[in-house]
Amino acid sequence: MLGPVILAASRSDKMRKLVSAAPVTKPVVNRFIPGETVDQVVPIVEEAVGKGLELTLDVVGEDITTPEQAAHARDAYLELIERLGDLGHGTKAEMSVKLSMFGQALEGGHELALANVRPVVEAAAAIGTTVTLDAEDHTTLDSMFAIHEELRKDFPQTGCVIQAYLFRTEADARRLAANGSRVRIVKGAYKEPAEVAYQDKSEIDKAYVRILKILMEGEGYPMIGSHDPRLIAIGQELARRAGRKLDEYEFQMLYGIRSEEHLRLAAEGHRMRVYTAYGTDWYGYFMRRLAEKPANLLFFVRSMITK
Ligand code: FDA
Repeated sequence: MLGPVILAASRSDKMRKLVSAAPVTKPVVNRFIPGETVDQVVPIVEEAVGKGLELTLDVVGEDITTPEQAAHARDAYLELIERLGDLGHGTKAEMSVKLSMFGQALEGGHELALANVRPVVEAAAAIGTTVTLDAEDHTTLDSMFAIHEELRKDFPQTGCVIQAYLFRTEADARRLAANGSRVRIVKGAYKEPAEVAYQDKSEIDKAYVRILKILMEGEGYPMIGSHDPRLIAIGQELARRAGRKLDEYEFQMLYGIRSEEHLRLAAEGHRMRVYTAYGTDWYGYFMRRLAEKPANLLFFVRSMITK
């Protein structure tokens, strides 16, 4: 019951101000978002690579309101890419982007988001790495997939995300599996209506398995985005049945969640990528992490009371 309430709050400006200003918020936020600047995230990249992990870096931010903010977001990624170029880890450190942060929801947003994301994808390719387009709420997805297709004409390694909770996703998976895309499959983190999405957890899990099977049997590169132990085991089995080698798919998890499992899978020889978000505009990302596990909220509230 708490999850949908927190997700609704994640879009509220009033709540944003309240939560962001609370003095005890910071240590709780740091569990999921380990830094605010490139300087703070570089040592985290180095440490993760040193442990045999890979990363996808996300400069947090979404729901921007002006083209200037969208340009600022683009520049933040370009700054990150410059630093990653110096580190020289290639695809071990790729990036995830939310097109809403690049202006997708503004007037003429589709073109604006494409114009802002293209230089980021170009710069990433120039240092030997790549970009994955995150999936946001269902109203944004036709535009996201069109931008993905457009970018893949010049940069076929550009990835995208699909969400198991949406009814449309099996069809999207078939198309993407046939055209050889890099595709991250996740359960889905937004509050979606019953007309477009499964609401029941077990229905979402079943859809996840059906979709993962399509990806594994297809021509693309599946990226299994989940912390769910059952789905991870099923992913390994589906990969084995599809005859995929260990470097023909990968696991992805979020920074701060099941960190021991990251290391266990990497030690087993799996490619394990940690989605690591950083930046100052962390509110929306943080609230989705709270919504996924209400125990996180209790931890947060308890820390407010005991301070
Ligand atoms: P589930 O929610 O069932 O969790 C399984 C177990 O993992 C839990 O029992 C708990 O132990 C642990 N866990 C999960 N979430 C936790 C949390 N927040 N705090 C503490 N423990 C937690 N969504 C989206 O809509 N668009 C996107 O682009 C992405 N991108 C993305 C990238 C990557 C790498 C991951 C792993 C996830 C996403 N997501 C996403 C989020 C995704 O949709 C989903 O909300 C979360 O992954 C939680 O679902 P699980 O599959 O982990 O299962």
